[in-house]
Amino acid sequence: MKIRLFKPSVGQEELDNIKAVLDRAWLGLGPNVTKFEDEWTKYIGCKSSIGVNSATAALHLALTAFNFPKGKKVLVPAITFVATATAVLYNNLEPVFVDVNEDTASMDIHDLEKKYDKDCVAVIPVHNGGYPADMERILEFARMKNLKVIEDCAHCAGGDYHGKKLGTWGDIGCFSFEEKKCMTTGDGGMICSDDIELIEPLKAYRWVGIDKDTWRRAKKTNENALDDPMHWHYEISVLGYKYNMNDLAAAIGLAQLKKLDAMNAKRRAIIRKYLLGIKDLKSITPIFPYQLDNNEAYWYFGIRCDKRDELIVYLNNKGISNGVHFYPIPMHPYFHKYDNGCEVSKKIWKTFITLPSHVDLTNEEIDYVISALTEWDRLQ
Ligand SMILES: Cc1ncc(COP(=O)(O)O)c(C=O)c1O
Repeated sequence: MKIRLFKPSVGQEELDNIKAVLDRAWLGLGPNVTKFEDEWTKYIGCKSSIGVNSATAALHLALTAFNFPKGKKVLVPAITFVATATAVLYNNLEPVFVDVNEDTASMDIHDLEKKYDKDCVAVIPVHNGGYPADMERILEFARMKNLKVIEDCAHCAGGDYHGKKLGTWGDIGCFSFEEKKCMTTGDGGMICSDDIELIEPLKAYRWVGIDKDTWRRAKKTNENALDDPMHWHYEISVLGYKYNMNDLAAAIGLAQLKKLDAMNAKRRAIIRKYLLGIKDLKSITPIFPYQLDNNEAYWYFGIRCDKRDELIVYLNNKGISNGVHFYPIPMHPYFHKYDNGCEVSKKIWKTFITLPSHVDLTNEEIDYVISALTEWDRLQ
C-alpha cells in the first residue's frame, strides 16, 4: 500500500465555482475575493478580513499594520514554520525565539516571560498542528507588557478554543489556505481582525500599494463614470507588494469553506482512531495531548518516538509517507545568529513524526498505519 501524507480534498463544488469564474473571465482580484472575505469574516466571527496569496504574506502584512520602529523585537516560538520568523525580518524587526512546552510543543509561557525585554513589541503564538497555544496566559502577559498579539493560524482554520474561534483571540489572526492545510485555495491566506482601522490600509499593501482595486475602477467606469476622463487613476502612497488573493483561488475557498467544519470533524475522527490504535504501544506516544470534543481543528496527527529516524525508515519501506514538523528555526543556518537556547525545542523535535491524516484517508489506510506501528513497537 502507498499512503500519501497530505492531500487536498477537492471535487465538483470547487470545479463548479472555478467554471463560474472562467465564464465571467475575471480571474484576478475581483468580486469573488470580496465575497470570500465577507463569508470568512462571518464564519470566524471577526469584523474584517483581507484575502492574500499566502499566510506568509498575511504574517508579513500583519506586522506591517503596526508600523513598529526598525530593530524592535518580536517573540516567536522556536518550533514553527520559517514564515513565522521571516515575517519579522521582512519588517526590519528582530525575531526572539521562545522555547516550547515539552508536552504541548507550543510556546512556553515561562520562557516567554524570560525572553521578553523592553524592546519587544509583539508576540506571534503559533497553534502548532492545530493544538491551541495557551491564549489566556499569553494574552494576560501581552496586555501587561503592551505587546501586540498576532496569531499564526496556518494550521487551525475553523478551530475553536474555549468556545471562541482561533484567530479572534489576538489583535490579528493569520490563516493559510496552502494546498495541504485544513482547507485550501491552492495557495492563499487571510488576515482577520476586529480592528477595521488597523487592517484596512493592508488592502493597499497587498495590491502593490494601489489605493483602489481594478475591479471597482472597471465597474465604476462601466456603470456611471462614462464622462470621467480620470476613471483609470490611482495613487501609490505606500510601498506595497503583489500579495493579493485572486478570484480563482477565492472560488476554491468559497467551496472549501462550506466543507470546513465537516473536514475538521473528519480529521478529529481520524485522530480518535489513531489514538485508540496506539494507546497500548510502549515506544510511541501522540505528539500532542489531543482534545477531541469541542470543534478543534487539528491539521495533522503526529507521534513521538525516541528511535524516530529508525521508525521513519521503517514507515518509508511500508509505503507510509511521513514528515517532521518542525526542525526548530534557530537550528537553520540562516537563523544561527538568533539562536538563544530553546533547549526543549532542540530536544523534542528529534522524536516527532507526522503521519497521514488527510480527510480522504480510508479506514483501511488508517488500519494499515496502525498495524505497521504496532508491529514496529512489538520489535522494540
Ligand atoms: C506555522 C506556519 N505559519 C505560516 C505558514 C505559511 O503558510 P503559507 O504556505 O500559506 O505561506 C505555514 C506553512 O506551512 C506554517 O506552517
